[in-house]
Amino acid sequence: MVPLNLSPLLLVSLFILSAARSAFSYTWGFPYDSQKIRGVNLGGWLVLEPWITPTLFDITGDSRIIDEYTYCQYQDKTKAAAALKVHWDTWITEQDFKDIAAAGLNHVRIPIGYWAFDVASGEPWIQGQVAYLYKAIAWAQKYNLKIIVDLHGVPGSQNGFDNSGQKMNSPTWHLNATNVQRSNAVITKIASQFKDMSGVIPAIAALNEPAGWYGTAMMNVVKQFWHDSYGNIRYPYGGDRTSNTVVIISDAFQPASYWRGFMPAPRWEGVILDTHIYQVFDNSLVRWSEDQHIKAACSRGPGLQESGLWTVVGEWSPARTDCAKYLNGRGVGARYDGTYPGSSRVGSCAGFSGKAVTFSDSYKTFLRKFWEAQTKAYETERGWIQWCWKAEQADEWSYQAGLKNGWIPQNPTNRLYPNICG
Ligand SMILES: *[C@@H]1O[C@H](CO)[C@@H](O)[C@H](O)[C@H]1NC(C)=O
Repeated sequence: MVPLNLSPLLLVSLFILSAARSAFSYTWGFPYDSQKIRGVNLGGWLVLEPWITPTLFDITGDSRIIDEYTYCQYQDKTKAAAALKVHWDTWITEQDFKDIAAAGLNHVRIPIGYWAFDVASGEPWIQGQVAYLYKAIAWAQKYNLKIIVDLHGVPGSQNGFDNSGQKMNSPTWHLNATNVQRSNAVITKIASQFKDMSGVIPAIAALNEPAGWYGTAMMNVVKQFWHDSYGNIRYPYGGDRTSNTVVIISDAFQPASYWRGFMPAPRWEGVILDTHIYQVFDNSLVRWSEDQHIKAACSRGPGLQESGLWTVVGEWSPARTDCAKYLNGRGVGARYDGTYPGSSRVGSCAGFSGKAVTFSDSYKTFLRKFWEAQTKAYETERGWIQWCWKAEQADEWSYQAGLKNGWIPQNPTNRLYPNICG
């Protein structure tokens, strides 16, 4: 509706403004405004995770090795480097990209740690990951997949999870300005390397899962980091010229309402909020019935729009227990069977994790329903990226195993339960 009392001056400036807006409209590498993100995370490849490849950790025979940092710290360097090279060469290959494309997916999110780009003296990290990122780019181009480069670990750790590279009780990233400066430098490096490749890398995720539960001390650093990352990713040319690269920011475990009004368009263009939804990392959640899991998934849809930002569910899984070996850390047990500190037993993990041959038909039917409920709910916003493409011995998490064993359809729009969410 046009107000009637506009002054000529205001009309002229509105005209200039709208002309300027269209002159500066962006060509994203993927039509995020009109098509759904359907993807998988290539977890456990360029950042090790004990639960995704338990063998790689067990074979060391050293129980102090609980993450990639200690993997590099407590082994002979040459031996560790050789094992990592074999892992990088074999865990994900061109065939995976071919299979991912053949499954009707359009995105892969690739976690990578800061240490692939920057190792300070005294740090034990072993490098070599970036060459594999370039292989992935070539494969993605060949099979017409989009890559999200996802900075998954920063100096001092942003969350203390083993998947940040360094498991620790009290993460220190946000407490140390040097850590944050190094992280900004890594994002700048990533953004400048890929600034002219938005056709294959349409988006960069500035930092995975910073631990928002540390309160304002953490959140103030996180919000400043999102602002700085926006500048680094959208303005990589050293002037006013913008890239076409979309900036993905993590919700840092805050509700969507927390982010309402944060980095709004049109002042900020091309921002996607990334939220992660798991229903297994809590004593009460692992007690839920199958129906409770499905109902909860369905109910997440509407809330995804509350921030006002484009929102993707960048991690989620059809798992309904935390039974996968080492899921809570190497040598740590599961809430579901009561072997995790402070948990009480719900039941046996047998038949809930491991190889699909051990899964009952009714469990596989549940996995299919839960998968359909989640993808349906998440497609009410920008879409979804399942965690993860493959896992050594946790088929309930593996997209690849889901395809092979029928609880994930070969075409993600094929639904056996189209009314699962009512
Ligand atoms: C801050 O982090 C850097 C590494 O990024 C480390 O060298 C330095 O000692 C830390 N400073 C403090 C005060 O902990």
